[in-house]
Amino acid sequence: MIVEIVVVAVWVMLPAYVPNSIAVIGGGGRPIDAGYNFRGERLLGDGKTWRGAIIGAMAGTLLAFLMNGFLPTLTGVGFEIKPFVPSVAFSLGFGSILGDIVASFLKRRTGREQGKPLPVVDQLDFVAGSLICTMVFSYDWAIEVFNFPIVLAVLIISPLLHLGANIVAYSLDLKDEPY
Ligand code: CTP
Ligand code: MG
Repeated sequence: MIVEIVVVAVWVMLPAYVPNSIAVIGGGGRPIDAGYNFRGERLLGDGKTWRGAIIGAMAGTLLAFLMNGFLPTLTGVGFEIKPFVPSVAFSLGFGSILGDIVASFLKRRTGREQGKPLPVVDQLDFVAGSLICTMVFSYDWAIEVFNFPIVLAVLIISPLLHLGANIVAYSLDLKDEPY
């Protein structure tokens, strides 16, 4: 029961988990805000680039489609999992990146420089972004899959995985801080 909830929660969120890591690995180049200032601060900052956002979002979306191919294996051992339809695959990939960008915007508005942490928001921005996008673009799919136990599991597991991934990225010198 609890194993199934955890497996389903991680499975449906995987396409939303990879985009930000891929953005760290493949990002760089032109910042999305083009250096634009808003009320004396950068709109987003140099940490949010077009390349990172596009590569990350595409990677998450592509992963969702690839994962559909492995669905029979999971349903075969008794897990009840719905395939990612295209609107969901895109919502998870792009919503995750969008959540991270919105958080960056909020960080700049509250005087936090690029790379400075904002606990809780940093760990859940991509979760909020992907869930909200899925609700907006694929409402029926979202309410069926994201029931209360799944959402609860997602809210507990996501920050832990996020921290784990950042510690790995930090130790590989991909990130400046281990969070
Ligand atoms: N990155 C990118 N494009 C994105 C997201 C991330 O190029 N859309 C790359 C950048 O090199 C960034 C690094 O991944 O510096 C780490 O990402 P993140 O922690 O999300 O950004 P920060 O640099 O901490 O910036 P911010 O404070 O605005 O979140
Ligand atoms: Mg950061």
